[in-house]
Amino acid sequence: MAIGVFDSGVGGLSVHRTFVERFPTADFIYLADQINTPYGGRPGEEIVDLTRAGCERLFAEGCSLVVLACNTASGIALRRLQQTWLPNYRRQIGRPVNVLGIIVPTIEAATGLPWEHEAERRGDKVEKLDILAVFSTPATAASRVYEIEIDKRRQDVAVFSQPCEELAGLIEAGARRADLEKAVAAHVKTIANRIGRAPDRAILGCTHYEIIADLFCDALAPGTPLIHQPLATADALERYVQRHPEFDPGTGGKRRFLTTGKSGAQSRLVEAFWGRSLSFERA
Ligand code: DGL
Repeated sequence: MAIGVFDSGVGGLSVHRTFVERFPTADFIYLADQINTPYGGRPGEEIVDLTRAGCERLFAEGCSLVVLACNTASGIALRRLQQTWLPNYRRQIGRPVNVLGIIVPTIEAATGLPWEHEAERRGDKVEKLDILAVFSTPATAASRVYEIEIDKRRQDVAVFSQPCEELAGLIEAGARRADLEKAVAAHVKTIANRIGRAPDRAILGCTHYEIIADLFCDALAPGTPLIHQPLATADALERYVQRHPEFDPGTGGKRRFLTTGKSGAQSRLVEAFWGRSLSFERA
């Protein structure tokens, strides 16, 4: 058995890299749906169907758990799949399987509270003291998942989402750093104008952006804390696997990289992030 990691493309490698460090003996299969990337401008129904197909593929390859290392898939498809598809699929496949996302761990890290926590609703207005910027794909921003879920838990946090049109596509295509730098600076400026000042903290709410986290750090006010999804998700996965021994993560330390797109190497941008060359097999 193995743990599957799914993204529309190379962004989920940022989460996968942290998983591999955290679980060196577990077996991992990474699947990038590069033929359909980016997901961030697609209608919700398509995102649901593509995410389900990715999960099925990873379970067919022998995964017991699939982590959606993609905010767009986690925010738009995960709940639907857990409610409408997974129960029947489990019966069909006849073994325990589950799909986990990355938004719950990110919100836990951003609020400092467990997911189950609900804020006590008070009649009086709570002052928003902490301004949190979320950089994400247009689909994640339109879902308002970060605004809604953080407001349920912490009413003193004001969340501003910035849809970063095209940015995941540029990263996926291995764009030049100068072009990425310009795009990131423009999004940071836009959100600061919308807020009226610089944000206090930021979430890189698209796993592709973690690959260029340094450009976000340079564009934001010096020292702005970033909430890193890879760390938050690895912590959550560790707790989950300890609580659920029925999901076997494997013991061979095997790594496979699959793509629905073209097999072979990834861009220099991705290889520089990963630290060595990476070869993908055709899924
Ligand atoms: N990396 C993904 C995310 O976290 C998806 C980017 C895209 O396909 O648009 O949202």
